[in-house]
Amino acid sequence: MSLAAGPGRGGGGGAQGQLPDEMKVVVEKHVAYIQSLDTRREELEYHLTEHLRISGIYWGLTALHLLGHPDALPRDGVLDFLFSCLHADGGFGAAPGHDPHMLYTVSSVQILAMVDGFDELEKRMKDGKLKVAKYIAGLQQPNGTFAGDEWGETDTRFLYCALNALSLLGFLPSQQADQPPLIDVPAATAYVKACQNFDGGFGTEPGAESHSGQVFTCCGALSITGELDSYLGEEGKDRLGAWLSERQLPSGGLNGRPEKLVDVCYSWWVMSSMAMIGRLHWIDKAKLTAFILQCQDPEEGGFADRPGDMVDVFHTVFGLAGLSLLGHPGLVEVDPA
Ligand code: FPP
Ligand code: ZN
Repeated sequence: MSLAAGPGRGGGGGAQGQLPDEMKVVVEKHVAYIQSLDTRREELEYHLTEHLRISGIYWGLTALHLLGHPDALPRDGVLDFLFSCLHADGGFGAAPGHDPHMLYTVSSVQILAMVDGFDELEKRMKDGKLKVAKYIAGLQQPNGTFAGDEWGETDTRFLYCALNALSLLGFLPSQQADQPPLIDVPAATAYVKACQNFDGGFGTEPGAESHSGQVFTCCGALSITGELDSYLGEEGKDRLGAWLSERQLPSGGLNGRPEKLVDVCYSWWVMSSMAMIGRLHWIDKAKLTAFILQCQDPEEGGFADRPGDMVDVFHTVFGLAGLSLLGHPGLVEVDPA
């Protein structure tokens, strides 16, 4: 996910004046909630989520950007923590002392992009951007997909992460036309296409069940390589768009696949995919907006997966990103790919 270039809708919540209270995003409460996350070190949850620490910063910082408060976390502190997770091979772990992994490496690259920190990376590690790019490229497998780490689990998530991070670093083959390519893009996109199912959706590997999280990663991958429109065509977009629109249930919320529960984070995985294929208008936007806002904690800030559940930073960013895609006033616009 990245924030769209060009004029947004302002951010900061100022444009919400006309809305009834239950339709308002409590911007200042969400900012305070995200700022409080790092100060809760005495709580069990803080320690149980150590394996997600870098991604937690990425989710929190992205939420702050969507809320129009991009500077609400201390930049120096974020960078110091980030570099304490960097390994000599160019990969990042989830927290200091954790092994490097694709998921935390892409989160780190996304954070560096958001805080304009690539120069800092070069200062802390010689040829740092190239080293990070080579760590990512080194995880590509002979069949075109990517592993998460040296132990070899593969998933279209990691393939999308590789393309996303390399594009932010400027090391996609198309961005480095005068250099030998770091990765085999045609092999990667052929693998993504092999993951498409008869229902129009995509899975983690060829033959795996369609899941909207994987629809996001596969559409995102093809969008980054510029092949999404030509590969799907109007018929493919209609078939995938129909499957995605069936994710909306009577509550207004979206599920990730048939027969499963609705969850706020699918507001992002499903809707960003619909936006990428030009079918976002196939969702009942008013009902989904109401559902997402029912998951907001108006007193303490944050969003939960479902109304009445505990809030967390993952569902906070994806709830806000969903509202941004829905054009909710007061939020910065987001790029679906
Ligand atoms: C739950 O699956 C999975 C999610 C809520 C995340 C889905 C998102 C992705 C796979 C994309 C991740 C993208 C990146 C870039 C890392 P489940 O089977 O537990 O839940 P279900 O019952 O709702 O299907
Ligand atoms: Zn969720």
